[in-house]
Amino acid sequence: MLELENFCFTLEKDEELINLVDRVSLRIPSGHFTAIVGPSGCGKTTLLNTIAGLNPMSEGSIAWRGQDLEEHGDIEPADIGYVPQFSIAYDALTVDESIEIATKLKVKTYGHEDLDKRIDKVLEDTGLTQIADRPVKVLSGGQKRRLSLAMELVTSPQLLLCDEVTSGLDPRSEHDIVRRLHELSRQDGRVVLSVTHSLAHLDLYDSIIVLHEGKLVYHGPPDRLNHYFSVEDTDSIYPKLAKQNAEKWRLSWLKHREAFYQKMAKKRRELLDTGELKVPPHLLKLEDPEAHHELTSEINHGQASEPLEVDHTSETREEPKPPRGKRRRKRSKVPAAHVIEEDQHDTSPDDQQEELDLVETPNLVSQFFTLLERRIKIFSRDRGQLILQAAILLCFPCLVALFSAQGNEPLLQYPDVIDQSSTETIRKLTIISENRLSIGSTVSGIIMFQVVLLALMGSNNAAREIAGERQILEKEKFGGVSPIAYLASKLVFLTCMVLIQSLWMAFFVQFFWPFPGAEVGGGFSQHLIMLTMANAAITSICLGISSLMKTSEQASLLSIYLVGFQLPLSGAVLALPDLVAAITRPFISAYWAWAGSIDSLANRYQAAAKAVTETSLNFDNAFCMQVLGIQIIVGIIAAFIGIKRDQWTH
Ligand SMILES: Nc1ncnc2c1ncn2[C@@H]1O[C@H](COP(=O)(O)OP(=O)(O)O)[C@@H](O)[C@H]1O
Ligand SMILES: [Mg+2]
Repeated sequence: MLELENFCFTLEKDEELINLVDRVSLRIPSGHFTAIVGPSGCGKTTLLNTIAGLNPMSEGSIAWRGQDLEEHGDIEPADIGYVPQFSIAYDALTVDESIEIATKLKVKTYGHEDLDKRIDKVLEDTGLTQIADRPVKVLSGGQKRRLSLAMELVTSPQLLLCDEVTSGLDPRSEHDIVRRLHELSRQDGRVVLSVTHSLAHLDLYDSIIVLHEGKLVYHGPPDRLNHYFSVEDTDSIYPKLAKQNAEKWRLSWLKHREAFYQKMAKKRRELLDTGELKVPPHLLKLEDPEAHHELTSEINHGQASEPLEVDHTSETREEPKPPRGKRRRKRSKVPAAHVIEEDQHDTSPDDQQEELDLVETPNLVSQFFTLLERRIKIFSRDRGQLILQAAILLCFPCLVALFSAQGNEPLLQYPDVIDQSSTETIRKLTIISENRLSIGSTVSGIIMFQVVLLALMGSNNAAREIAGERQILEKEKFGGVSPIAYLASKLVFLTCMVLIQSLWMAFFVQFFWPFPGAEVGGGFSQHLIMLTMANAAITSICLGISSLMKTSEQASLLSIYLVGFQLPLSGAVLALPDLVAAITRPFISAYWAWAGSIDSLANRYQAAAKAVTETSLNFDNAFCMQVLGIQIIVGIIAAFIGIKRDQWTH
């Protein structure tokens, strides 16, 4: 049983409070299939999100199976399924794989057999068995919606919320889905709430909820709908709604509601008696009318007779009453536009709640491996991404290697004794000085070029990594996926990318231009570490950007700017004014990797490189490594904050 009482979701707009969901009170018993209809923008999705706990409720109360959710905490993720308007499956995976991954993320399974059995059951319930091997990208609209539904059914949720799962479908697919939802509501006393803009197939629902400007204006049997609104056909209901103030519609409904509820209860008893509807006994016990209190005093108890004539002008007294207990469910800081008085309200006692047969959520490690497996699968099947990565991997080091000939020229040394008077000596000194200038700038340039290209790869690795799948992430967090497991899967995947790119870049260039390493310690291995850390730092920061930004376009743009500024702000091309350098330098990964690598050069080369740059390069590589390490950690922390933060949009 789902009970809402004066349920509100309020937003502050231009210093004005607006109730997007306005004092909705309703009661939906188990084993019940309800449609939520209403004109576009009337608050259907908002109501669903608020019930799911994605929007903070502002006032009122919500109870599930007799337990107030504010006191007892939200419905368990495994017990609630929410099929959103957007697709929650990856195009690169097959139907079977999508359901398998959804199961592995949300259900602790016991061996392959258990997993297969669960997948087969869901495939069957949603009629996807025949097309289990097909990739998601070739599915029709109707099949995709059924897949989204299947992915929500893996935990066998008792409360199933669906948002416009039939919109844009042909009439046959639409009928097919509505029929399946109807069947799902007949299993294990499940409550199914389906938002729809379509007024077709209403007879398959047990009840219809009509919303108008965020207010509930009807909740009753489908066959009484036209009669209640005094219209010939269902399509005329929306135009009729517009003819009267929404609040008046709401008040009219309150007057007649209990009679309709009694009618629905009678129908339900008939269905239970004939065995058409089967509800587990412990749920029926919870809903025992003897134990049940009246929902609200707004109802006119005396009106048991059927309300044939609707009085749309009468006013009824307002008095909602939420209990104020331990608040575990999110509650909005915005008070409802309508101020509500308090009163007592008894929730069913805990002892009435039977032990729930809920599936267990898998642990963090298991979720991590599932997410990593999915990431690798998606990557390996994305041909465009593979070609791009391969092209970058091959071409970028080649670009650097083009300069190797110049870099391999011998570095001339100044003679120990200089005879200033000899013109021959002056000529030699000029040659040596030109040679040192040329080698110094080539060495410094090759290192900076490597660093900047790796920075570019880093931003390409991570800029879209989270922002590109934000909606799915939000959906999965809602379903019980741990942000830590998600972040860890990204970090392991990206670490592999960074290592492949950096090692390949370093060794490829090394083959053409052996790094003129320090006489003692350091040398190529230090250079390798600097290159890897530069790539890792940019990858990590871009991952942070990707998780903090709202859209993948914003994340890509910001990441491109970040890389674009690396070269000019590193000071490798033009020396920066001291103040600017001091402010920007901590953020420029390229500078630290460059300075660290220069410090790993043999002394002669180091001197030649430092002679051609006006930028201070006097940091030892251990310090540079620390700065890059801090950048990596900051990026990871930003990524974690972004992943954890709710960014649910509909
Ligand atoms: N987060 C929000 N901020 C501002 N307005 C919102 C927000 N969410 C919903 N709305 C507004 O609330 C109204 C109801 O939206 P919605 O629930 O999506 O309608 P429906 O699903 O019935 O078409 C719309 O006018 C919408 O613009
Ligand atoms: Mg909507």
